[in-house]
Amino acid sequence: MPNALVDLIAEKLRTDLLSVFDNPAYRPPVLPTVALDIMGVAERDDADVDEIVQLLERDQMLAGSVLRLVSSPIYAGRAPIRSLKAAVLRLGVRVIRDVVFEAAIARGVFQVNEYTDTIALVARHSTVTAYITRIVCRRASIDADLAFICGLLHDVGFAGLLLAVKHVEGSSAPSLTVLWPHVDELHERASLLLVERWGLPRDVVEVVGHHHHLHTGPMARVAAAVRLADHLTQYFDCSVRGPKVDGERLPGDTIPAFDLETAAAELGLDDAAVKHVLTEAERTLPDIALL
Ligand SMILES: [Fe+2]
Ligand SMILES: [Fe+2]
Repeated sequence: MPNALVDLIAEKLRTDLLSVFDNPAYRPPVLPTVALDIMGVAERDDADVDEIVQLLERDQMLAGSVLRLVSSPIYAGRAPIRSLKAAVLRLGVRVIRDVVFEAAIARGVFQVNEYTDTIALVARHSTVTAYITRIVCRRASIDADLAFICGLLHDVGFAGLLLAVKHVEGSSAPSLTVLWPHVDELHERASLLLVERWGLPRDVVEVVGHHHHLHTGPMARVAAAVRLADHLTQYFDCSVRGPKVDGERLPGDTIPAFDLETAAAELGLDDAAVKHVLTEAERTLPDIALL
């Protein structure tokens, strides 16, 4: 195909992709209502164990995934967890909320039928970013209530955009190779639109929606933790990559070196501390791989 034509199609896609989010026919990736309800309950100080269990039992498939996750070595430790109630009692409401989100996006949001291998890479990258964010927060002493969820959802825009492609009028399933640079460029904005549409807390919208930008304000350290974790995924071969061209996957989701240095400085982490994060992540990742 001549380059000018490729450029024209790409430009049309670029302008149309985001407007698709406003098209009533477009069905954005769905976050199960149970996940949103649990988010609400977890914010309350008087959150009650039975209330959480009852909420989870409304969605048996999700409950099954949550039980499988909390039974993995990363959560269960030596003593197995055999029931949802035991899980909530042992891990606490907020960790359970994080696990529910992990199960919910793995089951629903990243189940896009198009471009499956690229979506699988984004899903893996998101999970690994979330777990490394948790480690970074511990090392930087950040009380990071919503950090795991920010890590988990930061690149959800890739899924939203790839799902949107088939709704772009006049386009017939374009090759992802043509599309990729635009999807990559727009994914941050798409992540913002999705988490806003889901009605997630303002802090999550702030971090997820601007995860390739430097932050000031109360969420600056959480944003820095997500950015550092996002970058560290590459050491575990879990970066976001596009389709293969001549046997190599196209790069994506890149973070400039300057941003990384700024993030590490914001967190007060020197090279040795970052190395510790990597060592801990290395220890934990085999368990994540079992999830
Ligand atoms: Fe990322
Ligand atoms: Fe990103």
